[in-house]
Amino acid sequence: MNNEFDVQGKVIVVTGGTGVLGKSLCAHLASKGASIVILGFDAHRGKAIENQIVEGGGEAWFLQTNVLDIALLKQNYADIMSRYGVINVLINAAGGNRPGATVEPDQSFLDLDMNELRQVIDLNLYGTMYPVSVFAKAMIERKEGVILNFTSATVNRPMTRVVGYSAAKSAIQNFTQWLAVEFAQKYGDKMRVNAISPGFFLTEQNRSLLTNSDGTWTERSKKILESTPFGRLGEAKELHGAIQWLCSDASRFVTGQTIIVDGGFDAFSGV
Ligand SMILES: NC(=O)c1ccc[n+]([C@@H]2O[C@H](COP(=O)([O-])OP(=O)(O)OC[C@H]3O[C@@H](n4cnc5c(N)ncnc54)[C@H](O)[C@@H]3O)[C@@H](O)[C@H]2O)c1
Repeated sequence: MNNEFDVQGKVIVVTGGTGVLGKSLCAHLASKGASIVILGFDAHRGKAIENQIVEGGGEAWFLQTNVLDIALLKQNYADIMSRYGVINVLINAAGGNRPGATVEPDQSFLDLDMNELRQVIDLNLYGTMYPVSVFAKAMIERKEGVILNFTSATVNRPMTRVVGYSAAKSAIQNFTQWLAVEFAQKYGDKMRVNAISPGFFLTEQNRSLLTNSDGTWTERSKKILESTPFGRLGEAKELHGAIQWLCSDASRFVTGQTIIVDGGFDAFSGV
């Protein structure tokens, strides 16, 4: 029987594929028969993820990249096209916050290092726009493809302290809507652009905000847990279903949307 959620044979390029969420979704999509191109900073980690997937019988290929380096992205694009000849899906999972762009409790916005702030906005916003500007070429040529961006819970209700990250993720949500309209109007109804908004998942980019050096919860993470009806953080595998749905034909009439996967955080008023 034809399975609408099938991703078998799709070439899926994942930036930030070496991160905690990226690595998990690469392994999942490979286990469903997709060919995964893992794009990441860290070659050692990337090769290990590639090997793990290949040893498990999946198809994966690691390429080193920097999502802020357009020349390198173009080289990645040429390499991918010469090996596969097609890109079906681009997942922009590179991103994250930096401690220097976070307003500490004893600081004000005026104390922030504007250079650190810019780096967070660059990584998240341009680190999404640049890969689209390079890899969507393969989709536009066929008038078919899926782009999936990552936003955050801080978009709908801005969170304290993480000012640059909030600004960038909000801009990505707007860009997702803008690009969905642009691609649909110019190239038709097989070009889709959506975003996923994970709630709180413990990963490298938020470890210092969520846990103390001895591994216990910070005051901030206690508040997050109280504001999450499920009363817990998410696990990376809990994003798999929504991501596979967005990559597959099962979501073929969905574009310009942000899908929230957060254990109820966004729905809860706190009362
Ligand atoms: N973890 C959460 O709770 C959460 C919540 C909402 C959104 N997100 C978003 O999900 C995405 C994945 O984050 P994660 O939690 O797995 O974080 P992570 O830190 O584990 O992974 C991020 C990855 O991006 C890579 N990266 C950083 N700069 C790069 C660059 N210039 N070029 C290429 N790669 C680069 C890092 O090497 C890392 O592998 C991010 O966009 C993040 O903002 C995470």
